[in-house]
Amino acid sequence: MKIYLETMGCQMNRLDSELIVGSLRASGYELTDDRQAADVLLYNTCSVRLHAEEKVYSRIGADAKQKQDKPDLIVGVLGCMAQREGEDFQKRYPQVDIVCAPGQLHALGEMIADVATGASAVALDPSRGESPDSAAEKAMDLLDTNRDPSAGKSPSKAYVRVMRGCDNFCTYCIVPYVRGPERSREPNQIAEEVKRLVDSGRTEITLLGQTVNRYRHSSGEQNFRFSDLLEKLSPTPGLRRLRFVTSHPLDFTDDILQAMAGLDNVCEYIHCPAQSGSDAMLKKMNRKYTRSEYDDLVDRAREIVPGVVLAGDFIVGFPGETEADHEASAELIRQSGYKNSFVFKYSPRPGTLAAKKFEDDIPDATKKRRNNELLAVQAEVGLAHNKAHIGKTVEVLTEGPSPRADKQPVPPTPECTQMLGRTAGDHIVVFDAPQSLANQYANIKITDATGLTLFGQLI
Ligand code: 5AD
Ligand code: SF4
Repeated sequence: MKIYLETMGCQMNRLDSELIVGSLRASGYELTDDRQAADVLLYNTCSVRLHAEEKVYSRIGADAKQKQDKPDLIVGVLGCMAQREGEDFQKRYPQVDIVCAPGQLHALGEMIADVATGASAVALDPSRGESPDSAAEKAMDLLDTNRDPSAGKSPSKAYVRVMRGCDNFCTYCIVPYVRGPERSREPNQIAEEVKRLVDSGRTEITLLGQTVNRYRHSSGEQNFRFSDLLEKLSPTPGLRRLRFVTSHPLDFTDDILQAMAGLDNVCEYIHCPAQSGSDAMLKKMNRKYTRSEYDDLVDRAREIVPGVVLAGDFIVGFPGETEADHEASAELIRQSGYKNSFVFKYSPRPGTLAAKKFEDDIPDATKKRRNNELLAVQAEVGLAHNKAHIGKTVEVLTEGPSPRADKQPVPPTPECTQMLGRTAGDHIVVFDAPQSLANQYANIKITDATGLTLFGQLI
């Protein structure tokens, strides 16, 4: 049976998909990039905004038509949307054969086999407040620890999950409901996984968690914090870069910043979403910090971690957001000097506190304008940040040919192609180099910059 898997959403979903691919292959399934040739269509979905879900409804709409000609075609919805929609999903969309929540992905191979024999397959995680499904938790842990390092797309980079779920309940966010309560993995398990990945050739590891810097594990008297985890993983032989995403401002204590400053291979990059620059909005969002506490974090980060690079997320058009609140976000972007920011229009998610309590009262046209305004401010700030690199030499991990390599005046050759790499601070750098440099480290002298990209010459 041939399986086609499409992944939407965040890095956590990309990691989940990589683990699924490895385990399905080990169970004898074949993966294909060709939808038409597939016997099974799987969507690993995201529920964070309506837009992401609409894409899935459109896919399964088309699949219903395809099933008329190909009745044996199996369609599966995996991940956050499966958990959010729950039991009713199949009633409303009978073309969907498999509904598999994020904590049940370990059972996917069996679910496909069941459906092929005519059964229907729905596996959901316990709702918040119900007791945990400890058998599923164990099986999911094994999916991480037994992963096949070669299932990943990059021979030089890999994601490693350090925690699952979230207990923050930001009022706009669906994640705590679909990914369940916060739980951190056992440190030795993480260290072994990192070692196996590095032994297999990966030199850059990105630790993943919804609030990764809140990682904490206790056994007996011992409390193991995120900074302890960085210290434990950093000495792994062959590990050149250790990154982590995404951080919550509330949990960014000085011990983490000191670990970043003191450990050579921990990248000086912090993606630490502010969501808003206005205290009134932060309170309504239940972010649990004030603007001045966020400003303090930026000051501490710049003081303790030399050359630290910051990135942010913002939500525009949250219920009740005034022009003054919006201006406070713009001002925060200017003041923080982010390399880049992701800006999202507020999208009410059924079941969240914000959707229940606050009317979605900002017109879409206003959300769009505010979105563009924040992006314009960020573009200026990003350009100034990037221009400060001109004349300097940076180290990059080369990913491969740039997306525009084919559009250059001189056609690419194996000896000279426009290549793309990333610095430890997550800057994108474009330069001409031999294609053999892919997945290698190189020093690049920066000669030019735009808001999103640095350009340079290979040294
Ligand atoms: N509407 C818009 N953006 C959202 N995010 C999370 N929930 C919502 C929502 N309901 C954004 C936040 C978060 C990022 C992953 O998505 O900025 O940091
Ligand atoms: Fe969502 Fe807030 Fe948890 Fe991030 S910290 S996943 S925004 S609830």
